[in-house]
Amino acid sequence: MTDPAIPPPAIHVEDVTLTFGGGTPVRALQDVSLRVEPGQFVSLVGPSGCGKSTLLRILAGLARPQRGEAAIEGISAMGRPGLAAFMPQRDLLLPWRRAVANAALGAELAGVPAAEARAEARRLLPQFGLEGFERAWPAQLSGGMRQRLALLRTCLLPRDVMLLDEPFGALDAITRREMQQWLQAVWQEHRRTVLLVTHDVEEALVLSDVVFVMSPRPGRIVHRVEVPLPRPRTSDDTATTDFAARKAQLLRALETAGNTAPVGIASATPPA
Ligand SMILES: Nc1ncnc2c1ncn2[C@@H]1O[C@H](COP(=O)(O)OP(=O)(O)OP(=O)(O)O)[C@@H](O)[C@H]1O
Ligand SMILES: [Mg+2]
Repeated sequence: MTDPAIPPPAIHVEDVTLTFGGGTPVRALQDVSLRVEPGQFVSLVGPSGCGKSTLLRILAGLARPQRGEAAIEGISAMGRPGLAAFMPQRDLLLPWRRAVANAALGAELAGVPAAEARAEARRLLPQFGLEGFERAWPAQLSGGMRQRLALLRTCLLPRDVMLLDEPFGALDAITRREMQQWLQAVWQEHRRTVLLVTHDVEEALVLSDVVFVMSPRPGRIVHRVEVPLPRPRTSDDTATTDFAARKAQLLRALETAGNTAPVGIASATPPA
């Protein structure tokens, strides 16, 4: 029985297995279970092709596993897009909408009045390094600028859970650090739940409460690394011995992910 007084997990994945069909079937995910409590910041790292994007797409209601369940805030995400704010790995900006209109798109579709959504987008553009580009078309923006615009669009969605698929992949090191700090500040202020996919181990450690490590395909969750370092964290913290030890632990976990048994339910709450 679930206790109605206890809020459901923000993100709950149970025994998810997904195989892509076609000439040669590809098993992308195998018995993945994962639990993230409201307000937590969790990262997912793992080798390329291990099923990270597939898992996020399932939670975004855009892909359906053959087995298992995925839910956002206690509501099944199966075939139900829009429960969480999702930033896909490819930016999917609409070429015929200017920057502000692209940024406001998700919020508008979620029911926020267009004028309000666009005013908020305009207000935040400078924080995303896009000042002066309000009226630019996506084709006039660099790869990194497009990525920041897509992140802004995701942040403007009125949702408590954010699913971010490599949001900083195309950014230079300095901009990347700025955006990480910005995301951390937003998260601390509003306490949204974030599930972030990244290839950058340092980024995962700077931002997360917990980092989950996935095995090579078929993806399973094989490690759970806690990051109890005080916040706010900055890039200066990466120079500490404590941080270096955790980074080494995480890199080791990634190296051995191929021959490690999966953890039971990967839970972002430490066991009592
Ligand atoms: N629509 C699809 N049809 C068939 N196979 C797919 C499809 N999408 C993904 N795959 C396969 O499923 C596996 C997992 O892909 P996925 O994109 O989830 O990996 P990923 O961990 O996000 O990788 P990366 O780190 O490179 O982004 C890969 O082998 C990929 O080729
Ligand atoms: Mg991916």
